[in-house]
Amino acid sequence: MTQSPEYHSVDFYPLRRWTGCLKARWRSANYGRMPQVSRSDVIAAAQMIYADAPFGARLLQSLRPYICPFESLLAHVPASASVLDVGCGAGLLLGLIAHFDPSARGYGFDTSVDAVAAARHMAKRTEFGTRLRFDTWSATMEWPQGSYDVVSMIDVLHHVPPAEHAAVIRTALSRIRPGGLLIYKDMADQPVWQASWNRLHDLLLAKQWVHYRSIRDVGQWVSGAGAESIAEGRIDIGPYAHEFLIAQTDATPLRSGAKPATTAEGTGSSPAQLNYEPI
Ligand SMILES: C[S@@+](CC[C@H](N)C(=O)[O-])C[C@H]1O[C@@H](n2cnc3c(N)ncnc32)[C@H](O)[C@@H]1O
Repeated sequence: MTQSPEYHSVDFYPLRRWTGCLKARWRSANYGRMPQVSRSDVIAAAQMIYADAPFGARLLQSLRPYICPFESLLAHVPASASVLDVGCGAGLLLGLIAHFDPSARGYGFDTSVDAVAAARHMAKRTEFGTRLRFDTWSATMEWPQGSYDVVSMIDVLHHVPPAEHAAVIRTALSRIRPGGLLIYKDMADQPVWQASWNRLHDLLLAKQWVHYRSIRDVGQWVSGAGAESIAEGRIDIGPYAHEFLIAQTDATPLRSGAKPATTAEGTGSSPAQLNYEPI
């Protein structure tokens, strides 16, 4: 696709926004992207993908696109990409990517056994599911080996202990192929009323007191690891305030600044025991 992505968002840094738009136009003309999709396309696809899922997963995954701007994130995914989705939940992002792009492949991991079970169930019941794999794992443990065109992390960092944030971002960058993309989105910590709304949401649904991290910190870790932020922005959907950052790794292999964290969080065995095959 040669269509330029739409940035219907308010960027934080006016200068970066201007240069980011120019770069995005140049890049979209120079590499293929997934077909552009609208929010209603995403809503319809989510309903279809989880049509056979148990009631709870079907309900949550069908409602999620109403509050999370997946269509804006999908606009950055290159065509035929291999994607690692960190904190994949029930697999919605990878399901959407595989649904809209018949050549895309995805691997997702998440600490939640229930979420991974829902993701695997979704993969079993869809014709594109053979291109997806899911495991129970934590981003704060040593990551499975492999490198990807895209590593995505959608609304995950605020669930991770703050002391691990930098290492998780750097490890994500180290799993991206040279010239590939980090697609990062999380909830904004400002203004207070919107951050509090989301905090309440997470208290009710995840039963967790979340730890917001400013997008500036994430941007600094990204540039410190030698990657370049090519788009940043903010998207408000009702009371939900989203921030995103798209970064591209250098075309020469990244220096891996991160020692993968080894907190004894999550379940399961060592990465070798995951029997993981890079995709
Ligand atoms: C708000 S949900 C987002 C799920 C999915 N990314 C999406 O956008 O639909 C946050 C997810 O992060 C997962 N999570 C929290 N801490 C994690 C960690 N340390 N490693 C991997 N996943 C984690 C949770 O289990 C949950 O599924």
